[in-house]
Amino acid sequence: MGSTFHFPTRLVFSNSAAADLLQELHHFESPKVIFLTDTGIVHAGLIDPFIQAIRADGIPVETFCDIPGNPNVQDVLPAFDAAKQMGASVVVGLGGGSVIDTAKAVGILLAHPDIDWEDLQWGRVKLQRPSVPVIAIPTTAGTGSEVTKVTVIGDRTGFKKGVLHPFVFTRTAIIDGSLTISLPPKLTAATGMDALVHAIEAYTGKRASAMTDIFALSAIRSIVRWLPEATFNGTNLRARQAMSEAAAIAGIAFDQSGLALAHAIGGPLTAKYHLHHGLGVSVLLPATLAFNCSAIPEDRWEPLRQALSLPAGAEPTSLPEWSKAFITALNMPVKLSEVGLQEEDIKEIAEGTTRMAMFANNCRPAAVEELVALLEENL
Ligand SMILES: [Fe+2]
Repeated sequence: MGSTFHFPTRLVFSNSAAADLLQELHHFESPKVIFLTDTGIVHAGLIDPFIQAIRADGIPVETFCDIPGNPNVQDVLPAFDAAKQMGASVVVGLGGGSVIDTAKAVGILLAHPDIDWEDLQWGRVKLQRPSVPVIAIPTTAGTGSEVTKVTVIGDRTGFKKGVLHPFVFTRTAIIDGSLTISLPPKLTAATGMDALVHAIEAYTGKRASAMTDIFALSAIRSIVRWLPEATFNGTNLRARQAMSEAAAIAGIAFDQSGLALAHAIGGPLTAKYHLHHGLGVSVLLPATLAFNCSAIPEDRWEPLRQALSLPAGAEPTSLPEWSKAFITALNMPVKLSEVGLQEEDIKEIAEGTTRMAMFANNCRPAAVEELVALLEENL
């Protein structure tokens, strides 16, 4: 099978996101902006410079701030209604992955006002036309949602099912690390580890290509260098900007090449125990690297070794120990029992793993019994 690389989003690496947003809005004829965010962002005061700049420019703007974490379709519809009522022609999402996924869903719904979201999720209908333009401004450095062609919204029962289509790509992503400065160390570490796992899985997964390698290796190099600094010295703007850029670059890589075993196990694990996504995939990294390290071809190992800054001569078998040390230094757990995994749930999680889309992309095939052993060994 060949590979395709398609990335239409305009990426702005910014040191003044409000000014850059205004510049983006000037590309449109008479824009009307629906500005989506969450209450945490409002309370942190992050929204104010954006709204002031838009209003001062005379551009009509309405805000909708009631987007919860892990939104379901019933959380998206009020945002869509607000956008429809004002006749929005541009959607701006300022926030983490939940806000940006909602902004992407609202953009799609504005272009397809009569469509039922669940019909889209389950493939009963297809997208007919591109989304209304969406501008994503991330306030965390991890999910990569600002650069991916998927939006993951829960259905009416809360079951998470992504809508994946090239029409879902944002028009512009504005990457400004200063917006992440108020993130506490725990969240900085967990979201940053999510980005690292994206990059590692993009590189080691079966669908990696010459193009995605460039992005994945660059992101790995940067995250290994800057994540500890961003976590423990959060006001270091250079570290924050490097992490925000690396998370977007890792997002571009995995969007094109797919993810692998840590995310496949991470799906059922985080759902079962209501874990933070980044914490879930991070704690699974050492175990999945231990499982996969023998399947990394020799010619693919050397660039990865260099990106990780491992010493010359280090072998892929050093990956589990390296990752444990890196994660421990971030004050994050490396044992599955520390995130609540119960022995009696292991079989169910192993079976759930095999139903995840990214499972087939792992470089080494895994039988359910092997997954059970992997989870038991890392309890
Ligand atoms: Fe992830």
